[in-house]
This record gives sequence, C-alpha cells and structure tokens, in this order.
Amino acid sequence: MNITRIDNKCSRCMLCVRDCVSGVWRLVDGAPEPVEPSLCNLCSHCVAVCPRSAIIHDGLDPDQVSALDKKKVSAESYRETVLGRRSVRNFRDREVPRNVIERIIDLARYSPTASNEQSVGYIVVTDRELIRKTANKIYSFALRLYEKTRKGPIGAIARATGLSENRYLKVMEYIKGQVPAGRDFILHNAPALILVHTPKRGSFMCDNCSLAAANIINYAHSLGLGTCIIGFLTIALRFSKSLRSSLGVPAGRRVHACIVLGYPAYPHPKTVSRKEPDVKWL
Ligand SMILES: Cc1cc2nc3c(=O)[nH]c(=O)nc-3n(C[C@H](O)[C@H](O)[C@H](O)COP(=O)(O)O)c2cc1C
Ligand code: SF4
Ligand code: SF4
Repeated sequence: MNITRIDNKCSRCMLCVRDCVSGVWRLVDGAPEPVEPSLCNLCSHCVAVCPRSAIIHDGLDPDQVSALDKKKVSAESYRETVLGRRSVRNFRDREVPRNVIERIIDLARYSPTASNEQSVGYIVVTDRELIRKTANKIYSFALRLYEKTRKGPIGAIARATGLSENRYLKVMEYIKGQVPAGRDFILHNAPALILVHTPKRGSFMCDNCSLAAANIINYAHSLGLGTCIIGFLTIALRFSKSLRSSLGVPAGRRVHACIVLGYPAYPHPKTVSRKEPDVKWL
C-alpha cells in the first residue's frame, strides 16, 4: 500500500494524524507521515478529513472521494424518514426497477463495519416465482412446527422460533385460514427480496449486516418504497441447506438480515406509538 503526503500542499494541520485510528499517520520531526501503511484498514478518513487534498492513497478510489454538501443534510427530514418508515406487508403489484435497488445497495455500502471490514454482501431476488416458492417452503415448515407444537412438548420449538407458545399457536390458527385465499404471511407477496450476508466466521458479522439493513429500510422508505425485515427467513436459512442453495447463499457465508421490498399498497400517514426508552444516565 502506498500512501503519500504532498508536502507543498500540506498545511501541517495534523488532522490526518488525529483522525487515523490505525496509527498509520504519525508525527515525525514535526511533520505528519504515513509511517505504517501496512496497518491501514482503508477507512478513507485521512483523505476525507484533509482540507488541502494533500494525500494520495493508492488503496482508495479517488473518484469516490468528493466534497459533501452540508446544505443537503436536514435533521428534520432524517427524523421524518425514520418516524415514517413502517414494516410494509401489503405491496402493489409493481416491480421495483433494478436501478432503484442498485441505488439502495450503493447507499448501504457506506454503512459502518467493524474494523472497516466491508465484507457485507447482498443477494437480490426479483424472481417472483422464487420468492413465492421460498415463502411456501417456510410456511410449510412453520405449519409442521405448529402441528408438532400442538401435539407435543413445545419448549424447544418455542425457543427455536423465539415465539411464546400461546402467541405462536394463536397466530398460526389465524394464518392457516388466510393462506388458501392467497395471503403470504412469510414474504408478504413482495416483488423483491434482499438478503444481507457476511462470512460465517468473524467478529461483529451480525452487527455489520444489521447496520446495512437499517440503512436499506430507511433509504428505501425515503425513495417511496416499503420494506419489511423477515426474521422468519433468517432463521429458516440458518437451518435449511436447500433454502440456502435455492437462494444462492455462497458456502462460508451467513445471512443475518432478510428484507422484502416493493411499493406499498397504501400509506401509513401517521406516526406510531412506542415505549419510552429505557435509559440510565450516569
Ligand atoms: C429482526 C427483525 C425480525 C423481523 N421479522 C419479521 C418477520 O419475519 N415478519 C414480519 O412480517 N415482520 C418482521 N419484523 C418486523 C417487526 O414486526 C416490526 O419492525 C415491528 O412490529 C415494528 O413495526 P414497524 O417496523 O412498522 O415500526 C421483524 C423486525 C425485526 C427488527
Ligand atoms: S490533513 Fe492534509 S493538510 Fe493536514 S497535515 Fe495531514 S496531509 Fe497535511
Ligand atoms: S485510510 Fe484510514 S487507516 Fe488508512 S491511513 Fe488513512 S486514516 Fe489511516
């Protein structure tokens, strides 16, 4: 890795030294120098913070580093986006254009990852038949669990599904009556599905996916799309090799977040009620 400081551009503000968490940039005889480039995790901070564009870093794409427009940032519009996003479970029969999904994933890649690992990957499914088959498989599995739960000891099943016995049974009773009429309680008849995955091994893999997923759902909402995180599918993928294979999950990777998306069938014009946060101030 080659990192160079252009001396005649540099003002010696030392921001690169202060902002480099990896200890690449250090003070040497009163000047900032990239003394340990091998420690670099490609976070881009030095290049982004340098007010003089005095750093050349050959591990980074200079075309992706451009000036930000502070005028575009509005706290109120961000709050409105987060407050207005709902889990959407009823979609219009309309495809999501590929370029819109690309735009969403392009934004998600700016989500933070532990040690700037950037190992989050995405599988985008727009094949509606595959989505339908996936939903059917999970529903059949849920139905089998339900039958077993009804008949026998339920402790293990309730733990595996994360649902309490009563709630699970009651929900399934209702769902069983609705599915024959075409209602998809698993993937909500969505036109698109995004799986967010990382290597199986490693630290903070689930966190990295969750942060990307959070950006996906909020940005999609700001683009007029609806999303819903599908924990049922994440669990099913953990247990079912055939599901992983039909959805193209590569060996050695684990899906930590599944998101259906599409155009909402109707808006949610009001905000929602939520518990007060449990906060302790020290
Ligand atoms: C980790 C996680 C898993 C979820 N799994 C499902 C799911 O399998 N099916 C579903 O319809 N909604 C699922 N949801 C959506 C939640 O039910 C929803 O976020 C919650 O009820 C709050 O509603 P809101 O998203 O509209 O604010 C999931 C949400 C999260 C964060
Ligand atoms: S941030 Fe840029 S201008 Fe400031 S010391 Fe580092 S290289 Fe020089
Ligand atoms: S890209 Fe990040 S880790 Fe690498 S030298 Fe710059 S600030 Fe340090």
